[in-house]
Amino acid sequence: RKAKITVIGSLNIDMVTETPYMPDQGETIIGTAFSSFTGGKGANQAVACARLGAEVVMIGCVGQDNMASQLMDALGKEGIVTDYVKSVPHQPTGIAAITVCDKDNRIIVIPGANHCLEPEDVQALESVIAASDMMLIQQEIPFRTVEAAIRLASSLNVRVILNPAPAVKLSPELLEMVAVITPNETELAIVLGLDENSVRGPEEMIARYSRQIVMTHGKDGAFYKHAGGEISHEPGRKVEVADTTGAGDTFNGALAVMLSEGKTLGEAVRFAVGASALSVTKLGATSGMPLRSEVEKFIASRAEF
Ligand code: RIB
Ligand code: NA
Repeated sequence: RKAKITVIGSLNIDMVTETPYMPDQGETIIGTAFSSFTGGKGANQAVACARLGAEVVMIGCVGQDNMASQLMDALGKEGIVTDYVKSVPHQPTGIAAITVCDKDNRIIVIPGANHCLEPEDVQALESVIAASDMMLIQQEIPFRTVEAAIRLASSLNVRVILNPAPAVKLSPELLEMVAVITPNETELAIVLGLDENSVRGPEEMIARYSRQIVMTHGKDGAFYKHAGGEISHEPGRKVEVADTTGAGDTFNGALAVMLSEGKTLGEAVRFAVGASALSVTKLGATSGMPLRSEVEKFIASRAEF
């Protein structure tokens, strides 16, 4: 049977501006193109899970506007259950202003309705969460809601993957309730309350965390470790980069699907690195997100690196 994953998180509309170079302060320049896509770390991770073969329920909050309908349509087309996405009249759907310049991106999120997802909303969905193999959650919703969701999943024995983005310092008590965290290097420093410059390199950074972790490392793939265990590195895969927005979301979705299916951490990370490499070949967070068969083919064709 298919893995059942509940994704709790943000839903945004991404407003993407492409530009040949970044304007200086006070400068006006002419950009190359504008496009809008569905986005938000929550919605993106839900799409990734669905394309990679899971049954997905999305929990989040949108406004009552055209952007909300766009998001509900897009998720519906992916086969994602959107019945538990709350809609509020007094806040607009979340927005992300994204500038893509020379394959790099800068993102400013205005959460809007995402900030109206309350702990009670999640607690009311206990039976939905209890029926899932895994909960996947990020931090673009109120932190009190993230905490409540993790507590609830933990009490129901549902494994949690926490993508701590955007990062905040996290308590050991909360981290103990999470099966795997998936920060990048900068985010891990913030999670642990470390000065990033005081730590030399990814291996030393990941060693500072004593629980199970997968640390993404951009084009260099990912580092991972079981609780207290040895550190392994899964190298990145070379692709033509169009836009890296959503690469982390693809990674998290892929990891959740593989771990829900009982794959080992190493197998799951290998698959996730392949999936996220494919995702960066197109503009827009979900445009390049691959189907499961595409990832399997890609990994098989590039076994050696
Ligand atoms: O992780 C990428 C996402 O971050 C974008 O889709 C944007 O909406 C922001 O939430
Ligand atoms: Na992309």
